[in-house]
Amino acid sequence: MKRTLLFILGFIIITFISCEYKYIDPIEVDLPTEPVSFLENVEPIFQEKCITCHSSTSPILTTGNAYNSLLNGGYVNTSDPESSVLYKKVLGGHPGGNSLSSEELGIILKWITDGAKND
Ligand code: HEC
Repeated sequence: MKRTLLFILGFIIITFISCEYKYIDPIEVDLPTEPVSFLENVEPIFQEKCITCHSSTSPILTTGNAYNSLLNGGYVNTSDPESSVLYKKVLGGHPGGNSLSSEELGIILKWITDGAKND
């Protein structure tokens, strides 16, 4: 009987802790339903949010250069989009992380999911 009670109590505490954790760190990704275009939707995000750092020291995202460097550098994995280095970087854990809105995150994830086309 005591064991069962302990088990239930433990379960409740763990459930509570995991909810709390999700509450502290919600990463919302708003996947667009419309198709996205690299030139019209993705690259403008780099221009606005990334170029400040990624123009001289790490020029992977400069205009006219971004598509080739992302694809050739292996930063994009279309068979497992969420494991893409590009996607992980924009989710956080790097100096420029956490600066994108849920819509912008969705645009980047959708672009990779749809095959990372240069369109
Ligand atoms: C405040 C400066 C800063 C901003 C803004 C920034 N980055 Fe970065 N980024 C860095 C630094 C420094 C590194 C290298 C260290 C690291 O990977 O943590 C890096 C590394 C990367 C890498 C991996 C490159 C490699 O050679 O491994 C990618 C991809 C990347 N950033 C994407 C982005 C994107 C996309 C944005 C815009 C949403 C962005 N970054 C905004 C500073 C920044």
